[in-house]
Amino acid sequence: MDNGPDHDRRKFLGFLAGSPLLAAAWMQLPALKLTSPDEAITLMDFEEAARRVLPPAHWGYMASGVDDDATLKANREGFQHFKLRPRRLVDVSRIDLRTEIFGTVWETPLFLCPVGGQKMFHRDGEVAVARAASAKKAVQILSTATSSMVEDVTMALGTPPWYQLYMPVKWEGTERLVRRVEAVGSPVLVWTVDLLGGRNLETAERYRRTDTRDCAACHATARGGRAVEALPMMSGIDGGMNPSAATWDYLDRLRKLTKMRLVLKGIETREDARLAREHGVDGIIVSNHGGRATETGRGTIEALGEVVDAVGGQIPVLIDGGFRRGTDVFKALALGARGVGIGRPYVWALSAFGQQGVERVLDILRAELQLTMRQCGTPSIKHITGSFVSA
Ligand SMILES: Cc1cc2nc3c(=O)[nH]c(=O)nc-3n(C[C@H](O)[C@H](O)[C@H](O)COP(=O)(O)O)c2cc1C
Repeated sequence: MDNGPDHDRRKFLGFLAGSPLLAAAWMQLPALKLTSPDEAITLMDFEEAARRVLPPAHWGYMASGVDDDATLKANREGFQHFKLRPRRLVDVSRIDLRTEIFGTVWETPLFLCPVGGQKMFHRDGEVAVARAASAKKAVQILSTATSSMVEDVTMALGTPPWYQLYMPVKWEGTERLVRRVEAVGSPVLVWTVDLLGGRNLETAERYRRTDTRDCAACHATARGGRAVEALPMMSGIDGGMNPSAATWDYLDRLRKLTKMRLVLKGIETREDARLAREHGVDGIIVSNHGGRATETGRGTIEALGEVVDAVGGQIPVLIDGGFRRGTDVFKALALGARGVGIGRPYVWALSAFGQQGVERVLDILRAELQLTMRQCGTPSIKHITGSFVSA
């Protein structure tokens, strides 16, 4: 009979092996302390690097969702509801990541989401991101809340960026902004419609209160970002932005105002996708603002299918929200997205390493997508169809 100390130890180890406690312990992987972007293994490694260099107020603003951050979490959790269905014995010796949107060939389906105020993360802000996007041939969407001017970003990018519109409350302001963006030649205007009702950035506010510096000494938009006219793209435009009275009539007016391609960002339902198509938009970005708009929403990956069905292939549907892995991107493509945007990951990398960090993020995600395509037997983007995921 074996009941000595060894037996007890074996019994205890056996208990641990089946225990969720041990599984959790295994998940506590050693955090990498990056000293250069090349040391990053995956996108998430940049999160800690950014946290170490950013002041608490800036970190909190970037990391924040709204209320209890439930939509923020749902964006990540959503991917768990879709599993891959890989096919075998397909020649995957050559993988073609190119895709086409609005008659332009993209090197990969990845794009850089509009993120406001990037000089709060790195002194070169949007210009550093533009240089990275140019080096990696990625599409950059510039925010209306940019801390760099669209003219400077166009120079650094070597081509005009797509431009994200926060609509000024006064129509003359919208006209002025759109004309300025047309003048640099931006091909696509992306109107963000998910912040028209306001929001509660609670986590940001908690972090801000731990920050003892005088933010107002550095930037006029400190303390809630109310000094909108201090933003480089809003100079000469007063009255604020994101009119809560906006309806589909505003979209019709915008449609008439410009010949730029018009994309709506922040659509999450089939009903709105149908209306968007009926009102003549050229594309949709399924987005919940990275969990920074409406609380207790679905992860965007879960909303994607109904939007794709509703537009019936007539206009491209793009998506963002929680994309961190090549498998995440693959799932969205399988569910019908034509392009996938990342927000925070490139901001983490920008914060810690500037342009080189952003380049590394694009390289890693591209390599992961390529690997997933090999593993699933999909040599090109058009091979990635709904049969490669199960819900
Ligand atoms: C700090 C921060 C600022 C943002 N600023 C804007 C903005 O100015 N305009 C906009 O349309 N979306 C903005 N977004 C939302 C992003 O475009 C995108 O929808 C979101 O970040 C994608 O989710 P992810 O961060 O999980 O990748 C911002 C997001 C963050 C994190």
